[in-house]
Amino acid sequence: MIDFSTQYLGLKLGGPIVVSSTPLSESLDNIRRMEDSGAAAIVLTSLFEEQLMLESQALDEDLARGTDSFAEALHFLPEMRDYRMTHEVYLEHLRRAKEAVNIPILASLNGATPGGWVRFAKEMEDAGADAIELNTYALATNSSQTSAELEVQLLELVQSVCRAVKVPVAVKLSQSFTSLPHLVARLEVAGARGVVLFNRFYQPDFDIETLEVRPTLHFSTPSELLPRLHWAAILYGHTNLDVAITGGVHSADDVLKCIMAGASMTMMASALHIHGIEHIGRVLSDMRYWLEKREYASLWETRGCLSRRSVPDVSPFDRGNYIKTLSSYSLRQTVAAF
Ligand SMILES: Cc1cc2nc3c(=O)[nH]c(=O)nc-3n(C[C@H](O)[C@H](O)[C@H](O)COP(=O)(O)O)c2cc1C
Repeated sequence: MIDFSTQYLGLKLGGPIVVSSTPLSESLDNIRRMEDSGAAAIVLTSLFEEQLMLESQALDEDLARGTDSFAEALHFLPEMRDYRMTHEVYLEHLRRAKEAVNIPILASLNGATPGGWVRFAKEMEDAGADAIELNTYALATNSSQTSAELEVQLLELVQSVCRAVKVPVAVKLSQSFTSLPHLVARLEVAGARGVVLFNRFYQPDFDIETLEVRPTLHFSTPSELLPRLHWAAILYGHTNLDVAITGGVHSADDVLKCIMAGASMTMMASALHIHGIEHIGRVLSDMRYWLEKREYASLWETRGCLSRRSVPDVSPFDRGNYIKTLSSYSLRQTVAAF
């Protein structure tokens, strides 16, 4: 029997597939099915900074103090009733989820700025969360704000969450950082135990008939895995943080690629929405078949074997890849033309 057990944020996981934050885990029945299908852990859907601020008395104080930017931002955000859960309902759901299954349950906080709302991390810990995933989505729309300032804001946020709790904290990152290895090193100093690569953004689409800008949500495709593999492969061996991959993990091949890049585990959301929760079991058995056929005793024998530090030729990870890929394409075109 192939050994699938691993460690993530110091937690023992029975396998390499974790359920990523999605509304699927808002049902206890689904949570049980996830465990039965072989999910190694579950990240619950997020509690949002804006939601918590709305709920909190602190909002009134902030408005009185004239924090215009937040008041203005709230104007565009959903009404309180549009959020799926109040924080009390969230904490109760977390408690019940912990009672329902034996696998680790991670709570998810979604925000961009340090502030009073961060204390909810402690409440999540008290409600039994085994770890906290911090989804940090800050979009730069202000030309006077530098990327360095945004990074400092992110690091302060991570530090304040890490200081608030004893359970490990993982940071779900956006892809838009110029020097990811440097940021990851600073996140470690700030107290994070892991990084999740990468948050997926839901860019609005334009309706050219009605001249409206509309939110869109499409499920991922496996092609979205490539930048995640690339960065996991670059980080492997250069950070003490655990690296998880979310975004484009749909099949056994996808999970194997992530582990070979150096990830500690992988996460699935879209694939479960598309194929159902039992898809996890099918992917695990496909992986088992693949590994047994090649006489591996453990999945972890493959870990990092395609990372940047393990392959003899690093050019596919670096600038050389760019030139090679473009020139090989034009060669193919020329051959086809004749
Ligand atoms: C319907 C839906 C709701 C999601 N809600 C959250 C959320 O509340 N918090 C969060 O961090 N990520 C959320 N995500 C993002 C997923 O956790 C995941 O990171 C992303 O979809 C990429 O993984 P995938 O390719 O397996 O879908 C959501 C995704 C979907 C499809």
